[in-house]
Amino acid sequence: MCGIIGYLGSHQAVPVILDGLKRLEYRGYDSAGLAVASPGRIHVLRAAGKLSNLEERAWETTLHGTLGVGHTRWATHGAPTEENAHPQMDASETVAVVHNGILENYARLRHELLDAGIPLSSDTDTELIAQLLGRVAGPLAERVLRVLPRLEGQYAVVAVSRDEPDTLVAFRNGPPLVLGVGEGEFLVASDVTALVARTRKVIFLENGDVAVMTREGIRIVDATGTPVEREVEELDWDPGRAEKGGYRHFMLKEIHEQPDAIRNTVLAYLDAERTGVALDGLGFEPERLEGVRRIHLVACGTSWHACLVGKFFVERLAGLPVEVDYASEYRYRSPLVGSDTLVVGVTQSGETADTLAAMEMAAEAGALLGTICNVRGSSAWRAATARLLTQAGPEIGVASTKAFTTQLVALLLLGLGLRSSRGLADREDRELVAALQRLPLAVEQTLAVDQELYGRGVELITAGDDSLFLGRGILYPIALEGALKLKEISYLHAEGYPAGEMKHGPIALVQEGFPVVALATAIPTRDKLLGNLMEVRSRGASLIAVAEAGATSVTSLVDLVLPVPDVPILLQPVVTAVPLQLLAYHVAVELGLDVDQPRNLAKSVTVE
Ligand code: M6R
Repeated sequence: MCGIIGYLGSHQAVPVILDGLKRLEYRGYDSAGLAVASPGRIHVLRAAGKLSNLEERAWETTLHGTLGVGHTRWATHGAPTEENAHPQMDASETVAVVHNGILENYARLRHELLDAGIPLSSDTDTELIAQLLGRVAGPLAERVLRVLPRLEGQYAVVAVSRDEPDTLVAFRNGPPLVLGVGEGEFLVASDVTALVARTRKVIFLENGDVAVMTREGIRIVDATGTPVEREVEELDWDPGRAEKGGYRHFMLKEIHEQPDAIRNTVLAYLDAERTGVALDGLGFEPERLEGVRRIHLVACGTSWHACLVGKFFVERLAGLPVEVDYASEYRYRSPLVGSDTLVVGVTQSGETADTLAAMEMAAEAGALLGTICNVRGSSAWRAATARLLTQAGPEIGVASTKAFTTQLVALLLLGLGLRSSRGLADREDRELVAALQRLPLAVEQTLAVDQELYGRGVELITAGDDSLFLGRGILYPIALEGALKLKEISYLHAEGYPAGEMKHGPIALVQEGFPVVALATAIPTRDKLLGNLMEVRSRGASLIAVAEAGATSVTSLVDLVLPVPDVPILLQPVVTAVPLQLLAYHVAVELGLDVDQPRNLAKSVTVE
């Protein structure tokens, strides 16, 4: 959740760290801080609130030094105050650390340090790591190895020492850390987004690794101090893709990037003739799948909504039973999982702790482990045997948009690939593959809709404090996703519901002007959905529908239609998701809210 950056090179560390933190702010933004080590002193600057507060302080103060660390925080232990911001130091200010994760033996360590007479200046578990490092002697790397056995739980930590202004030490167990190998400089960060502006050569640290960076080079050892080899990988991310590029918000930019993201995802997995799906070499080959009798999809949040649609795709196309679970529930419900199960963790970041834990449990139970993931080299990517990469590129806005629609596409490709590996492919598949190649155009048309329509949508939604999003069948998960988008960035309560269920309870909410948003494109149950809409209309609801332009049965019934092109049923979840993203975006902008960094949230949730 928190963002971490460390720098060791020949440039001044502060501007590099602030730039890295800007790129990482989406991971947490309730306080920020940095430390610069110069011979005999570590200078620490911290500020509560957004990164801009820290930046102001940094420009007022001149901090010289070419070694430093920075942090942007999403609070776990301790309120989001300056005292609890990172970096945290030990009592004698010899060591400064930044940390992402949670120490599970926090209470025990805290009592132990207090009993030993160590004054603690924060409520954080991070300070305990700094204090433990401060209490042992020796070079920083050795101190880390001595302290490691004391740490229980999840941590990604970067430490600097007052006495070693040429050494940066990074270690992890759980949350990710990636090293950047630049020209005469080394970096370390919680994710690659912070590195790509300076280098594309990276090393992903494994759990238990301790990386020691000095001006001579990088040494990586395990917890016993034994050297381990880690590969230097070359990233293909374009740094410009992690910038706003003229858009007011990352979310809006990412909504508009969907045609390209979808096109790239589709093209990555089509066969040479572009008439079928080729999942060769990805771990989904027939010999790998032989014996698989069922599929479990596990994920969180928006990615979970993608899985709900994925169930329709895979069951219909591949004829295998699919279960969808919240990753945070999966391992606690004793699922029937074994060597006959393909378990796919679906995750944008590849670092969501709940999803990783569910995947780990499935692998231990003997399942074939797969992932649909947007970050090559992430923890989910490395854990899985069978892998599909969504080609959305960096997603910075906390509200997931292009990652969601590319997950839908990847799940559809998975369904088609499994179908083909089971020998079921036929002419209809070719038609679907052709339609998939036209899908970016359909999304472009959806984006080109007159924006004034969204102004009207904003009026209808903001007339109340609550709203209902209704859908049926394959579009019900899109109703859930539309409601989540609105909730997370506009702070207005919204509920997604299967339209047919509405009369069993939620209809009690409906009164004059109550906003109801319906997914009303041409699915077989559209007439039934329209019946459900009449039920709420007659009780005073205002109605917004997403439907293909010219669907008179819909336009005659509702207050506003957000139009989408007519596409085959299996592609409707993708095109109908887009207007709901735009609706939520415009509502949040109208309410003057921070679209890209909504309160209490973080882009990648690396704690369970
Ligand atoms: O990185 P992941 O896809 O694993 O993240 C899962 C959820 O945390 C994420 O989808 C979250 O719900 C988004 N903020 C929704 O917009």
